[in-house]
Amino acid sequence: MCGIVGYIGKADAATMLINGLRRLEYRGYDSAGVAVLDDDRIVIAKAPGKVAALSERARAEWPAERFSRTTIGIAHTRWATHGPPTEVNAHPHLDQSGEVALVHNGIIENYRSLRARLVGKGHHFYSETDTEVLAHLIGDCDKGNLFQAVCDALHQVEGTFGIAVLSAREPGKIITARRGSPIVIGIGDGETIIASDAAAILAHTQRVIYLDDNDIAIVTADSVDIRDLHNIPVTREIAELGLDAAAAEKGGFEHFMLKEIHEQPDSLANAIRGRLDFNLGSSVLAGMGTSPRELAELGRVVLIGCGTSLHAGLVGEYAFEDLADVHAEVQQAAEFRYRNPILGSRDLVVAISQSGETADTLAAVREANQKGAFVMSLCNVVGSTIARETGRGVYLHAGPEISVASTKAFTCQVVVLLMMALKLGRGRRFSREEGIRFAREIEMVPALVGRMIRQNARIADIAEGYAHNEHAFFIGRGPMYPVALEGALKLKEISYIHAEGYHAAELKHGPIALLVKGTPVIAIACDIPGKDKTLGNIEECRARGARILGIVTEGDQEAAECMDDFITVPRCHPLVATIPAVVALQLFAYHVARIRGCEIDQPRNLAKSVTVE
Ligand code: M6R
Repeated sequence: MCGIVGYIGKADAATMLINGLRRLEYRGYDSAGVAVLDDDRIVIAKAPGKVAALSERARAEWPAERFSRTTIGIAHTRWATHGPPTEVNAHPHLDQSGEVALVHNGIIENYRSLRARLVGKGHHFYSETDTEVLAHLIGDCDKGNLFQAVCDALHQVEGTFGIAVLSAREPGKIITARRGSPIVIGIGDGETIIASDAAAILAHTQRVIYLDDNDIAIVTADSVDIRDLHNIPVTREIAELGLDAAAAEKGGFEHFMLKEIHEQPDSLANAIRGRLDFNLGSSVLAGMGTSPRELAELGRVVLIGCGTSLHAGLVGEYAFEDLADVHAEVQQAAEFRYRNPILGSRDLVVAISQSGETADTLAAVREANQKGAFVMSLCNVVGSTIARETGRGVYLHAGPEISVASTKAFTCQVVVLLMMALKLGRGRRFSREEGIRFAREIEMVPALVGRMIRQNARIADIAEGYAHNEHAFFIGRGPMYPVALEGALKLKEISYIHAEGYHAAELKHGPIALLVKGTPVIAIACDIPGKDKTLGNIEECRARGARILGIVTEGDQEAAECMDDFITVPRCHPLVATIPAVVALQLFAYHVARIRGCEIDQPRNLAKSVTVE
């Protein structure tokens, strides 16, 4: 979703800002803009489309010296909410005087009433955005102290924001603040970088400060002064990012998605490392912060998330019930707080989020906390809002996931959920030997995924036969049902093929009416309990002329013979098999999208981190 970069330091702010925006491109956006202070005057360049277009525009419109002499500025990638992705709607926005510039992530919910009031005072607006209203409001509040003006304006705002503000009247500082939209400040050597995402900071420094909600900071080249909105100083620790800048590069792969699919043996090994205890037959997940007694007394596990993270939760649901004998259910995060969920202190709520910033999941976490549940998170991004607000949980250690389509985060989420289920299971029903056996299954996961990746070329060939259809169905049952949902999501988001995931038994209750000769049905028919019934459902599809691509277990000749094409998955525990099975579908979706010439890493209309409800 929208991205913010602010820079104040030694030189060449325009180049630094545009490069910073490039590192945020993966988040998904549809226009971009940059404002720098040049000769104590704010100059702005904006462009619809990609950062490359913005860079071209700035270089065409600005004299070359501007690139070498500016030392302070703010920049933005916008994912349109209020008004289409046009140049005029792109950020930064100016106040009425033209001397205060603002970039903003989030939504100002009461912007209409604020705008009406400002129009009454003679303000003139050019864009359709809520952000321009906030820029004018800050300018209107500015009586000679920018920091105070931003505080005063933010007190009048309802909604969410991560902002950076630049004023020609107070050069040498940027004011930044957050409520519900992340801001991280990188502390460099004589330079400070503000960003909505550490990816824009990585190349400059590893030392960062994460703002909390309602923090506001005065940032200079060599200082960061953080206060609350009542001007009371607050202390925030400096954290180490611990991320390698190279991890955010493509490393020779054509797309980040392909790179991230190939990284999975390593990311899974990182997620598992040091977390299996073969002596106790359990897992070591210290971040859960739970005693064996608390785990034994749990009444229910509630898994919440959105999109791919929701699908990981669905696999977790099977794992917790099967391995840990505990009632488990999955709830869509966006719905959670609006349905007044029934929760208590014996309920463990697990919020699953790669980014740790998804607005719906964050709101669900807050609701679960209100209701006194035991809340923990399963995030990838260290220091993200959900990770910090839950205060306990398990990090995925998948490394930066840049492609909008989530791949390695999903498989790491599943493997961590399996380890959580093992831990609970060991406290409730598993013998030591059973625990050790399952721990051995988990230990094998990186190697199993490595074997899937070695089938890349074969899967690319198979994809040729499916890339020219406009509809596809994915079916599975048991833990392969969420795999079918995830396979369909991957295909639709990157190839724009209309794809639906169904429980294999559900097709005949309606969707089968859509099958005609050649309609692709991707059947996850691994050799797990219920496979025979899935094979029966496949026959029903074949009888209607569907073309079947099967995901089958190695050596399962009976299943392979039911398919027009098939990809094999190594034989392993049914819950573990979800991971190699989904890797097959990730590669399939990737190659279909590549053949169709789609823009794989940044699909249209999508954002990596969805920070609006
Ligand atoms: O960062 P999160 O895991 O909370 O994100 C949730 C979804 O927005 C995300 O999984 C989305 O569905 C991806 N585009 C799927 O590939």
